[in-house]
Amino acid sequence: MKKIVVLGSINIDTILNIERLPLPGETMAMHDRSIAGGGKGANQAIAAVRAGSETSFIAKIGNDHAADFMMNTFKNDGLNVDNVTIDKNAGTGKAYILLDEHGQNSILIYGGANQTITTQDVDNASDAISEADCLIAQFEVPVPAIIESFKIAKANNVLTILNPAPAKKDIPVELLKLTDIITPNETEAEAITGVKVVDEASMKEAADKMHEMGVGIVLITVGSKGSFYSLEDHSYGFVDAFKVKAVDTTAAGDTFIGYLASQLHKELDNLEGAMRFANKASSITVQEKGAQNSIPYHNQVEF
Ligand code: RIB
Ligand code: NA
Repeated sequence: MKKIVVLGSINIDTILNIERLPLPGETMAMHDRSIAGGGKGANQAIAAVRAGSETSFIAKIGNDHAADFMMNTFKNDGLNVDNVTIDKNAGTGKAYILLDEHGQNSILIYGGANQTITTQDVDNASDAISEADCLIAQFEVPVPAIIESFKIAKANNVLTILNPAPAKKDIPVELLKLTDIITPNETEAEAITGVKVVDEASMKEAADKMHEMGVGIVLITVGSKGSFYSLEDHSYGFVDAFKVKAVDTTAAGDTFIGYLASQLHKELDNLEGAMRFANKASSITVQEKGAQNSIPYHNQVEF
């Protein structure tokens, strides 16, 4: 069984179903309002564990009801939460997701406890990292903690996957050099490279810039179209998405990453196959509202 460690965020998502984004100064009624477990780190950890990997999560929660709710979800899924700690002074992270009638979302984040993760917290989890096959992180937790975790991973021959989301400019070169696989979407790829990603040629251009910055493999996810890859030797390709009707794309990218990490062989010799399986998994996620509740189990993904 594959061993995966995820360092990342926990959020309680409040989903506001609206016709369209309100204009400045406009008051608008919403169609519906619901709560679901989310946070990019938690979503990716849940995707990895549902994909069948032994998964350990490094994260921080507040001392509140939201934390109890999330811990229950994690335990039900069999996620190892030995390194999920409580911050007594911060609230559990929150996300407010504005979801329009076309399934398009805009997200506002309250970082809370996610923002208090330190390099010391990561050091406390160094055994879990060094024993893993793969470590995954995203940008909803502080960058110094991510760098520390990637240093431990690389010192122990552990594969590192960086999901550079939410989009961030000026990512430290030190972090990119420690990154084996980076998985931006089009917006994030542009934030990192300055290249507007619109077609295969611009994907290749952006990928080459990321290789120059020190990243091994570049995977650019392009929503309903599929995902592009570019390897260290500059060979590249595209894996088509599965055509489905999207209801809510929240956590689609997270599902892709958790599943990809679980499927990928240590030798990385099955990248296209792993991407296809991960695309299939995320095509299931988009067909249901909410983040964690819509992430499929391995037996739903077989095709
Ligand atoms: O990637 C989706 C996630 O981003 C949501 O669950 C929300 O919490 C935000 O962090
Ligand atoms: Na969903």
